[in-house]
Amino acid sequence: MSRAASDYDRPMRLLVTGAAGFIGTTFTRQALGRLPGAPAVERLVAVDLLTYAGNFANLDDLQDDVRFRFVRADIADREAMAGLLADERVDMVVNFAAESHVDRSIADASPFLHTNVQGTISLLEAARSHRPLRRFLQVSSDEVYGSIAAGRASEEAPTRPSSPYAASKAAADGFVQAWATTHDVPAVVTRCSNNYGPYQFPEKLIPLFVTNAFDGEPLPLYGDGMNVRDWIHVEDHCLALWHVLGLPARPGEVFNAGAHAEVPNRHVTEAILRLTGRPADLVRRVADRPGHDRRYALDASKLRATGWAPHRSFDEGLAATVAWYRANRAWWESVKSGAYREYYEHMYGARLRSVEG
Ligand code: NAD
Ligand code: DAU
Repeated sequence: MSRAASDYDRPMRLLVTGAAGFIGTTFTRQALGRLPGAPAVERLVAVDLLTYAGNFANLDDLQDDVRFRFVRADIADREAMAGLLADERVDMVVNFAAESHVDRSIADASPFLHTNVQGTISLLEAARSHRPLRRFLQVSSDEVYGSIAAGRASEEAPTRPSSPYAASKAAADGFVQAWATTHDVPAVVTRCSNNYGPYQFPEKLIPLFVTNAFDGEPLPLYGDGMNVRDWIHVEDHCLALWHVLGLPARPGEVFNAGAHAEVPNRHVTEAILRLTGRPADLVRRVADRPGHDRRYALDASKLRATGWAPHRSFDEGLAATVAWYRANRAWWESVKSGAYREYYEHMYGARLRSVEG
């Protein structure tokens, strides 16, 4: 498969949803030249509801760029989305907006249904009547494949979601493919493995453990710590998305994006302790996540065959990430205040007290 040079090289007018979240921030910063590697962008309209996970401070310094506009809105507001697509003459939609944390989906699945499923349908409906749209890119997850006992999941693997989060992402993928087939929306789906890097909300394993380690707080490792995740640096993921935006594709086609870096959580934890200079006794083996997928391993060879490859090894990327959190204490201290404290107590309080006896 070769890159569609004509499409890729034309300046894009993008609607980027979930732009103030972890991955959306990196994608947006690449688009506006604050990070390297993205093609020319004529306009970027960032849409974000600014839920607990969205942080406008991540994008604040982009406001003086005339190509950039931020709109606080819910992707499930179809009229607002249709209005933005028309008013801004958008020709590419990249949908990052989602509820993204598995543990929260176990506690309450309803926001996942609202944003991940109904929000995606609303965007698809807005896109359906919008012409000319060159591309609708749905940013999905390897979690839709479920736990992978051996080998790696290719795009042909069946979806077997285990968590409410994964079920909502798999449902959204299905709707995207249905709108591509039935309503001619030029949509594709990317499925990526676990991301890590700057600006990640400290509810996820790596930023939670790094920031807790800095403060000498316990690291709550679920179960036996031998669950495996397949890690990719967020900048590599976003470069894969730019690459996919330039590829010719079948309606609803799926592209896996991953770095083939499978690491057990216990090893990630040990690396974090090394990089932060903290002792092993900070680790607490706490009650496991219900339905916890044992192993993710994503086969990204199809995308690699089109010319994309990740730049960073996990060791390099993790060291750079720890350095970012070390240098940006003000960012994560502010994120970890207020409602976060209640979340942390709710999620970890009893679990930690029960192992501490
Ligand atoms: P995140 O939770 O950091 O950010 C999500 C963003 O979406 C936030 O800014 C939030 O305010 C916004 N949002 C939530 N509901 C919204 C709504 N109804 N309308 C508008 N905005 C809304 O998530 P992330 O880790 O950056 O993930 C981005 C996307 O990538 C998600 O779709 C996720 O499923 C997918 N993904 C994430 C990973 C990962 O490891 N983080 C891996 C693969 C795929
Ligand atoms: O695989 C892609 C997915 O990766 C994305 O689709 C999700 O949006 C993203 O949240 C991530 O899901 P995980 O559930 O794999 O990520 P999380 O950081 O929550 O957990 C990573 C592993 O670490 C998992 O095996 C559970 C474990 N863990 C997590 C936390 C938060 C712990 O042991 N302790 C913890 O406190």
